[in-house]
Amino acid sequence: MIDQSGVRVRDEIEIAFVADEAATIPVFAQLARTVVNEILRGRLAPGQRLPSSRRLAAQWAVHRNTVLSALDELAAEGWVETRAGAGCWVSTTLPERPPPRGGARGGASAPGFAAEPGFAMGEPLWQALATMPPSRPGAYFMAGGQPDLRLLPREMLSRAWRRAVRDAGSKVLSYGDPRGALRLRRAVASWCAARRDLAVGAREVMITRGSQGALDLLSRAFLRPGEHVAVEALGYGPAWVSLRAAGATLWPVAVDDQGLDVEALEALARKRTLRAVYVTPHHQYPTMVTLSASRRLRLLDLARRHGLLVIEDDYDHEFHHEGRAVMPLASADAHGHVVYVGTFSKIVAPGLRVGFVVAPEPVIARLAQWRRAVDRQGDLTVETALAELLEEGALQAHARRMQKVYGQRRTALRDALGAHLAGVVEAHPTAGGMALWAEVSPKYDVERWSAASAEAGVIFATARRFAFDQRPRPFVRLGFAPLDPGELVACVKTMKRCLNEARV
Ligand SMILES: Cc1ncc(COP(=O)(O)O)c(C=O)c1O
Repeated sequence: MIDQSGVRVRDEIEIAFVADEAATIPVFAQLARTVVNEILRGRLAPGQRLPSSRRLAAQWAVHRNTVLSALDELAAEGWVETRAGAGCWVSTTLPERPPPRGGARGGASAPGFAAEPGFAMGEPLWQALATMPPSRPGAYFMAGGQPDLRLLPREMLSRAWRRAVRDAGSKVLSYGDPRGALRLRRAVASWCAARRDLAVGAREVMITRGSQGALDLLSRAFLRPGEHVAVEALGYGPAWVSLRAAGATLWPVAVDDQGLDVEALEALARKRTLRAVYVTPHHQYPTMVTLSASRRLRLLDLARRHGLLVIEDDYDHEFHHEGRAVMPLASADAHGHVVYVGTFSKIVAPGLRVGFVVAPEPVIARLAQWRRAVDRQGDLTVETALAELLEEGALQAHARRMQKVYGQRRTALRDALGAHLAGVVEAHPTAGGMALWAEVSPKYDVERWSAASAEAGVIFATARRFAFDQRPRPFVRLGFAPLDPGELVACVKTMKRCLNEARV
């Protein structure tokens, strides 16, 4: 191959690109995404030089300035490095071989499903989930925030389900409203008004397939490829997958002992046109910190000034062990910037796949349009059964019972850590939730400890699983909700036995 200056260029990489004229994102952003895809596929390796901007402009049949804008974008996102006069190459700080899409065991290969923190299907955590409850005697699952399904009043649930089929028969078994069963939307609206300080009616509620269904719909309905979204730097990977699948570029924002660093978010919003921010203000996932009041106000103010959509994921609202639950951001949002996402996964069961969105009516209408195209509607029988249990107050009573049980389990786990792992693990104070976030002494390698414990039958998650940058940190998340005090002590003793394999 001969370039325009007549110099032979050896092994120059060809990057195929055809501009999508109908796309809503500009050509330079499409070019940047094309290069990112080649890096993710492993066709472009760290340190590999890209052809000159002139050659790229010729290859791609675009103006050279368009190429330069694409390279600027890639450099700003950290995918490439450039030096004046020396050209442009794939950033040397990227991992050498990108993990195969869909995780170590293959799996989905659609865009957005490259191995994500918290989402690598080959991990012991997901293998354990596939065989929940652990089939091996003495094997325990402490990762994630599972409720204790052994304590779910199943008879109550099946009675309500039977009544829904019997009494509402053809109504619940037919096509219905993509926003969900009206009866449940009404019940959720009054529950939110009573317990979450959200003065809403059924028209501002949509029932979804769990919070994940809500996050997926919100991403599809409100994000366009190339738009920028801020997320917590330690956070909930499955939400990032949904946001990325809609084409968003994610920007991690630090979290500390007051939750999301809103000042850092403000600095980011000055540099980038942010479309949205995804947050877990009640119990920051995974650190369990409650977003401080002053930061809540600053976040709402920032959302108003920058026209940001705030996606508030309030996944465990009921479980506050000290005092009252902090009210959602959405309850203080006077300007309609916050979309509130809740779930029945923690207070009832994740397998039901029922969650909800509370938002202004036009937002709900747009979500409903998308819902029609995705899976049309939810399971109206389950929704009707849950509506009945909420109307009777049975679910609220179950939540109160579980809150007491989980409060005792939190104390049991803290005590067990104090008795058996003092000096190794220090649990951070939390106001509630279903898990503890704990710092591990630098004398131990958390990754090796977690692997050895998983081998011995106790599955817990390390900070790396939640980290946007996927780097290890000396923290672990220990879910206590699904295990009784005796089981928690057994877990901690097993973890202690595995320490030898983690000594640095
Ligand atoms: C941060 C966060 N959001 C949402 C959920 C619940 O997801 P879903 O309602 O889809 O079951 C979880 C469950 O682990 C979670 O940790």
